[in-house]
Amino acid sequence: MELVDTFSRPLRALRISVTDRCNFRCPYCMPREVFPADYPFLDRKDILDFEEIERLVGIFTGLGVGKVRLTGGEPLLRKGLPDLVARLARIPGVEDLALTTNGSLLQELAEPLKAAGLGRITVSLDTLDPAKFKRLCDAELPIAKILGGIDAASREGFGPIKLNCVLQRGVNDDELLELAEFAREGGHILRFIEFMDVGTRNGWKVDAVVPANEVVARLSAKWKLEPLPAPIQGRVAERWRYADGGGEIGVIASVTQPFCGGCDRARLSSEGALYTCLFSGGGLDLKTSLRNGASDADIQALATRAWTRRADRYSELRTTCTEALPRVEMFHIGG
Ligand code: GTP
Ligand code: 5AD
Ligand code: SF4
Ligand code: SF4
Repeated sequence: MELVDTFSRPLRALRISVTDRCNFRCPYCMPREVFPADYPFLDRKDILDFEEIERLVGIFTGLGVGKVRLTGGEPLLRKGLPDLVARLARIPGVEDLALTTNGSLLQELAEPLKAAGLGRITVSLDTLDPAKFKRLCDAELPIAKILGGIDAASREGFGPIKLNCVLQRGVNDDELLELAEFAREGGHILRFIEFMDVGTRNGWKVDAVVPANEVVARLSAKWKLEPLPAPIQGRVAERWRYADGGGEIGVIASVTQPFCGGCDRARLSSEGALYTCLFSGGGLDLKTSLRNGASDADIQALATRAWTRRADRYSELRTTCTEALPRVEMFHIGG
């Protein structure tokens, strides 16, 4: 029997944060004032180990999950990540195994990830300008390292690579066409994401959101775009194709056109809590159950209970009231 929530939404996708650490300090996610170098990130013993993640993924495939995405923090900072990928790629129900990364370690890791059986890679890329990159990502390394990582992933056959760009008005929206051109030339699928009020520390203001329809209008002034059909399940991006054959581009209108109606995603934090919404105030602690000897059937029952009671649709309800509610920080559950 298919597991559905109170709005008849099935559980299809699991996003797993494998670490809460990141080597970047993007102000909208981990501002350096809040997350200095000595910030007490989780201890190794408090995050799920590979056996535990593998076991949970096996259990979740039994509940209908076929899509698994590894996230962070920055997932490639997790030691031995290709070993985890190899374990997950072997699980029969895992039809789609993907990774969302900031790209900084892809030059080194694209090859072992491919060999381990990773299917797809998405790289976050908010700017192409070296000085702006320094400001927007507050990273120690140059942007050339990210671009080299994207190239390395393409060379390994991960193409087309998806590029995620969070647009902020007055910050990077002046680069819209340049970013699109870059992706077209490289054969990548760029998606412009509306800046969201995730977490509680990113200083979100509605004025900073560049609505997806504006993005499409600005792109259309330069290139003719044709809409691509939406998938039946779990739509996040609205997809377009360049009429001249220049490939595909998308917009993720999570603020102006929320897609909660088809949301089939659950999220697992690095410390092993299950969240049924990106904006949840709390998660269901599965790690303690795992470590206290719960059987697969016990865990399955816990997850089933959480999903069948699920009524989340935060983005559709977003108001000044919901903005004040407590919610999980993005770096805990990886977007
Ligand atoms: P695939 O379809 O598997 O390629 O991935 P995706 O389209 O889900 O893309 P990805 O995981 O890269 O998500 C892109 C961005 O969309 C995320 O980083 C979030 O900013 C946003 N997003 C994804 N899922 C959700 C969601 O469930 N709710 C909201 N509000 N935003 C989401
Ligand atoms: N709004 C939209 N997307 C965000 N991301 C991080 N913070 C936000 C936000 N406030 C994106 C990152 C990355 C993905 C994991 O989530 O840029 O692509
Ligand atoms: Fe790191 Fe991604 Fe957060 Fe930036 S948005 S600090 S790269 S986890
Ligand atoms: Fe799903 Fe919550 Fe995002 Fe809506 S706001 S699409 S319910 S994760």
